[in-house]
Amino acid sequence: MAVLLNPGTSRKSPETWLTAFQAELPDMEFRLWPDAGDPESIEFVVAMHHSPQDLHRYPNLRAVLAMGAGIEQYTGPGMPDVPVVRLADPVMHDEMAGYVVHWVVHFQKRMDLHLESQRTAAWHPVQYTPADRYRIAILGFGEIGRRIGRALTDLGFPVSAWSRSGSSQEWVTAYAGEQQLQSCLSSAAAVVNVLPSTAATHRIMNAARFNQCRRGALFINLGRGSTVDESALLDALNTGRIGAAVLDVTDPEPMEPSNPLWTHPRARITPHVAGYTLVAPATRVIAANIRRILAGDMPFPLVEPARSY
Ligand code: GLV
Repeated sequence: MAVLLNPGTSRKSPETWLTAFQAELPDMEFRLWPDAGDPESIEFVVAMHHSPQDLHRYPNLRAVLAMGAGIEQYTGPGMPDVPVVRLADPVMHDEMAGYVVHWVVHFQKRMDLHLESQRTAAWHPVQYTPADRYRIAILGFGEIGRRIGRALTDLGFPVSAWSRSGSSQEWVTAYAGEQQLQSCLSSAAAVVNVLPSTAATHRIMNAARFNQCRRGALFINLGRGSTVDESALLDALNTGRIGAAVLDVTDPEPMEPSNPLWTHPRARITPHVAGYTLVAPATRVIAANIRRILAGDMPFPLVEPARSY
C-alpha cells in the first residue's frame, strides 16, 4: 500500500513534503509524482492539483486528500467515484483571519487616508466608525469563515454570516439562502467573501449584488476569483458603491496585467497569499485523515459531491 504525493505548485520542494510525510506516517510507502510505480499499490493520492484522468489509473484508490482548502479541481466531470477530503488546517485558517483583520482595520481606521497624509507631512486625524458600529458580513461560513468571524468578534466587530443553510452560532447574525443574501449584504460596512468555487457561487457577486451593498462598503475576496464579476466590481468602485476592494484571489490567476483593478486607487491586489499551505501543519492534518481511513473512521471534511464542496 502506498501514497502518491503530488505537491505540484507548492512553494516547498517535493522532497520537503516527502520528508514531512515520512516522519508523520513512518509505516507508509510514499511515491513522488510522477513516479507512481505499480498503479495497483496506490491507495491514497495527496495532491495540490492532480488530473482526474490520472486518478482512474489506480484501481485500489481509497481517497484523494487535497493539499489546499479549495477543491474545485476535484469536482468536475471525469472524476472517479472516490472520496475527496478537503484540507481544513487551523493554522491556515489563523493566517487567513490575520489577513482579513489587517485589511478590515486598515480601512475601518482610515489608514488609507492617514498614509496619504503622511506623504505631505500632514497631521490630520480622520474620524472613523468604531468597531462596534462597523458590521462585517462574511459570505461562506465554514471552518474558514467561522475563524475569521471569531477574530473579528474578539475585536468588537459585529458579524453577519451568510451561507447556504444558515449558521446556528449564536454570536453571529445568520442569513441563509439566495433570498437572504441581499439583507446580509446591506447590513454591513464590509463584506468578506470566502465562498468556494461551485456552480452555485459562480459570479455570485455581480452588478446586482454589489448594488445591494451599502454605499462605500469595503469588499474583500480571499475565497475564489470565480465568485466575483470583476468588471461589475470595477464599475461599483468607480461609482463609489464599493468604497474599497481587496482581492487576494482573481479570475484568472495571475490577474491579467491589463486589468484596470491593478492600478485602481481604491483596489488592493495581493497574489493569493492570505493563507499558504504550510508544510508542518498541513502534513499533520492530512496524515491524521489517512490514519482515520486506515482505522475505518471517517476523514473530514469530506467533500459532498452533490454540492461540489
Ligand atoms: C488556497 O487557495 C487553498 O485552496 O488552500
